[in-house]
Amino acid sequence: MRWRNVAACLAVSLDALRLEITVDDTTEFLDFDRCSTELELVGIAHAFVHRTDRTLLATHPDDRAASQEIVNHMTRMQADAAGPPCAAAPLPAGALPPVWTWADAHALAAQGKLRLNFGGGAANDFHAFDDRYTGWVAVEGPNDPDGHDYGFCLDGKESCGKPWCLCRDLTRERFPLDDGSVASILTEHALEHIKWEYWPHILREFHRILRVGGVARVALPDYHAPGAVRRVFWNTTVAAEHRILGGHHAFTSFASVRPFVEASPFEAVYWLHYWDGSALDGRPPSEDEPLPFTRNPIDYGLGFVKRTPDHPTMNEGVTSVVVDLVKLAR
Ligand SMILES: *[C@@H]1O[C@H](CO)[C@@H](O)[C@H](O)[C@H]1NC(C)=O
Repeated sequence: MRWRNVAACLAVSLDALRLEITVDDTTEFLDFDRCSTELELVGIAHAFVHRTDRTLLATHPDDRAASQEIVNHMTRMQADAAGPPCAAAPLPAGALPPVWTWADAHALAAQGKLRLNFGGGAANDFHAFDDRYTGWVAVEGPNDPDGHDYGFCLDGKESCGKPWCLCRDLTRERFPLDDGSVASILTEHALEHIKWEYWPHILREFHRILRVGGVARVALPDYHAPGAVRRVFWNTTVAAEHRILGGHHAFTSFASVRPFVEASPFEAVYWLHYWDGSALDGRPPSEDEPLPFTRNPIDYGLGFVKRTPDHPTMNEGVTSVVVDLVKLAR
């Protein structure tokens, strides 16, 4: 997709504004209002940029730059349109004001409203788009030093280029948040992209920033699920494919994750879903070896997880290790 001529602007009347955009030689119009809020403008721009793909499974730096540019044009048109001051509009139910910086996140934390979705950059796009993530702020990392480009965090940028998505290198840095300041943590299929050596630091930081009584819900691909995924343990070519193409550096299962959870500062741990390889004595299972599946009820109000048997239309046939880590003391 080529973005051109975003600059042409039309004022339809005093308050109704229209931005003309030419994409791939087709001219389209985006209608908005002199008093549209930043949230509404971001929603209009994102809906336009993603109009052919609302799944948001793939987001690209170009798309984000384009939607930011569209918002900038609309904001400039609003500033140029004269009129009486705009009344403050209420946010949609449960939605947060846009978060573009860590200072914005601090302000939410001070109100006890900061819920963090680590690795949620694609799903957590903007609140009106996917309300399962309304109220959550995503945190993304820099590109993989081994060359895997996640396309969220450009060098030195605090924001992923869209609201409610902040950047931070989780592997080495202290998270820029005060002790006990985060209401909840969620991470779905993200930590497997991080080498085991960094896990103790990350779990310690999750515990430090979480409020007492808060839950960190961790969901990970289950490499002990029956079938072809187990070949990563037996075949070095397949393992390399998962590392290089998938960017997976930790082949996660109940058996491999448990020692890290047990060594972490979390005082209470609830294992919710997992294929139980504890009887294997550390040996990886073969492709069709039966293992018991533990399936406890999950309260998705504490953090949505797509990839479980509870969401058969969304899980792409994948199950997850799902574990809730609870902080009980400072
Ligand atoms: C390992 O996997 C590769 C790629 O799927 C396959 O070509 C190869 O035959 C496998 N090796 C063994 C020993 O099974």
